[in-house]
Amino acid sequence: MKFINHQNAPNGFERLYNEIRGEEERILSLEQIQKLPYTAKGFRHHGEWNKRIRSTSRFENYITDKKTRTLLDIGCGNGWLLYKLARKLQRADGIEINKLELEQATTLLAHFDNVELHYGDIFSMDPQPVYDIILLNACIQYFDDIDRLMGRLRQFLSESGEVHILDSPIYKDKTSALEASTRTKDYYARHTIPEMAKFYHHHCFEDFANYNYQIPFDPRKITHRIKRKFVSESPFPWLKIQLSR
Ligand SMILES: C[S@@+](CC[C@H](N)C(=O)[O-])C[C@H]1O[C@@H](n2cnc3c(N)ncnc32)[C@H](O)[C@@H]1O
Repeated sequence: MKFINHQNAPNGFERLYNEIRGEEERILSLEQIQKLPYTAKGFRHHGEWNKRIRSTSRFENYITDKKTRTLLDIGCGNGWLLYKLARKLQRADGIEINKLELEQATTLLAHFDNVELHYGDIFSMDPQPVYDIILLNACIQYFDDIDRLMGRLRQFLSESGEVHILDSPIYKDKTSALEASTRTKDYYARHTIPEMAKFYHHHCFEDFANYNYQIPFDPRKITHRIKRKFVSESPFPWLKIQLSR
């Protein structure tokens, strides 16, 4: 594992994010991280992680079937997914702006020689057009400008590379996104961290209208809506985006 530092000092986001993560009891032990998405029954976020079991498994099957060689996990957090996928890939890299969790990823992935972990932001990393897949797993909400982000990601993708967005809410229209944004503001205000709201962005399908995207998993389908009544299934869509050069 190679660690690359693009960040000289923590930014405002890190302090606020860790404050809320601590309060929400989302900082996990290495033992817990190694088992994700599986968690113990009594764990506070057990229900939420249970819903991620199927979305993780679908994505894992996809990269296996496609014989994906290289992947960049943006906002890789504590590295749980890279840990799960690294054995299947020639190169499994992560970038993360939160040092606390990235340090956990560093420990977790120490023995993999096909992993690079970058501390910083995709805008501070040198572009190299090498990734077959760029993944944003529960992360797109931390980027305000989809066009700016896609323009940047294009520079990191291999010839037929794809961007995948998983496990994040994508709202049906701008009105729903705006309503959700009010809920988010209330949530952070209640937790006495109102400044955090400015880092959390609510996207709707229209924000991706300029891109050639598919929805390999669409929770709005009636079959999935019925299924969710009986099994733990993700309420979030999986977006696959082919970016032309
Ligand atoms: C909700 S967590 C998801 C972590 C992990 N991908 C997962 O699926 O569990 C979102 C992560 O994105 C990171 N993040 C937010 N903005 C980022 C940015 N501009 N560059 C890199 N990471 C970022 C946060 O620090 C956080 O670890």
